[in-house]
Amino acid sequence: DVAELDERYEKSFTIGAAVETSQLEGKDGEMLKKHYNSLVAENIMKPINIQPEEGKFNFKEADKIVKFAKENDMDLRFHTLIWHSQVPEWFFLDKEGKKMVDETDPKQREKNKKLLLKRVETHVKTIVKRYKNDVDSWDVVNEVIDEYAPNDKGLRESPWYQITGTDYIAVAFETARRFAGKDAKLYINDYNTEVEPKRTHLYNLVKELLEQGVPIDGVGHQGHIQLGWPSLQETRDSINMFASLGLDNQITELDVSLYGWPPRPAFKSYEEIPDEVFQAQAERYDALFKLYEELDDKISNVTFWGITDNHTWLDDRAEEYNDGVGKDAPFVFDPYYNVKPAYWAIID
Ligand code: G3I
Repeated sequence: DVAELDERYEKSFTIGAAVETSQLEGKDGEMLKKHYNSLVAENIMKPINIQPEEGKFNFKEADKIVKFAKENDMDLRFHTLIWHSQVPEWFFLDKEGKKMVDETDPKQREKNKKLLLKRVETHVKTIVKRYKNDVDSWDVVNEVIDEYAPNDKGLRESPWYQITGTDYIAVAFETARRFAGKDAKLYINDYNTEVEPKRTHLYNLVKELLEQGVPIDGVGHQGHIQLGWPSLQETRDSINMFASLGLDNQITELDVSLYGWPPRPAFKSYEEIPDEVFQAQAERYDALFKLYEELDDKISNVTFWGITDNHTWLDDRAEEYNDGVGKDAPFVFDPYYNVKPAYWAIID
């Protein structure tokens, strides 16, 4: 019999999985109940799904995930209130339907900024009021740092930023705090948080926001990593850096890709992947979870960005960058719901 993941790490942190609503049933649903005590939506709580048109909120799918978490006594992460991707266009159009980023008149730009900040407030307020008793951790903003940004602070020059500067971040956090209450845990979430220059850009931004009194409780480290990258030392340093600001850390989207970047050449099917690759992956998971346990007073949750190797966004990447065919296998369960060497590595 196979031991439960969440039970194994009970003393250290909760163990989560990202899901589509279709995965709440059948074999995936069974896996969720057995191995995980935390849940997050892979897509359906993003702005484009929650508020596709201004004022028309769609909670139907999101509610299913909330209900499942409640029925099965699982924690819930909300992903994500504000993001530059999967966000509907209307947020960034003025009342006449003109793109706010194109506006050159300073007076109108000021008006546009106000309008967008109001929209941020309404979006956050409506969602937070609805789910404040269900959600434990909120990704308030996602991926606001961009290591390739053309400014020296690494601030992502999304429409949010072009129209409001960093005010959208402050307003999102302040609104979330106002309506979720003091016990809600509010996170700034990003990828490549282990490595420079992104880690320092994020650190500087968070420090500045904290000094301004913006209510941030923690950093979400997505953890889309590879067999040999980033190094354990970089991972350790990053967690310690943010902890030194008095913040919690969560690993929010963990998957260990078999490939570098771009994912090429990729294996064409799961069956093609040799045993030694799964062994290498097991060693990687072993070292990683040892590190997480070592730092467990600074990490409250570790969430996988999926359940088994039959459903992972990394397959899309492997296909896209490998002439249309490619299979990745980033998790500790195989596509047939069996345990992999990586599973034993993190259980033993
Ligand atoms: O829902 C439509 C469907 O109607 C349509 O037929 C189909 C055809 O392409 O697309 C479906 O939407 C897809 C959606 O996932 C739901 O499956 C989008 O094309 C696809 O782009 C989208 O990808 C998601 C991606 O975020 C969007 O950027 C991935 O599933 C999701 O895993 C990924 O998650 C992100 C995190 O939110 C943030 N961190 C990085 C992480 C990985 O990219």
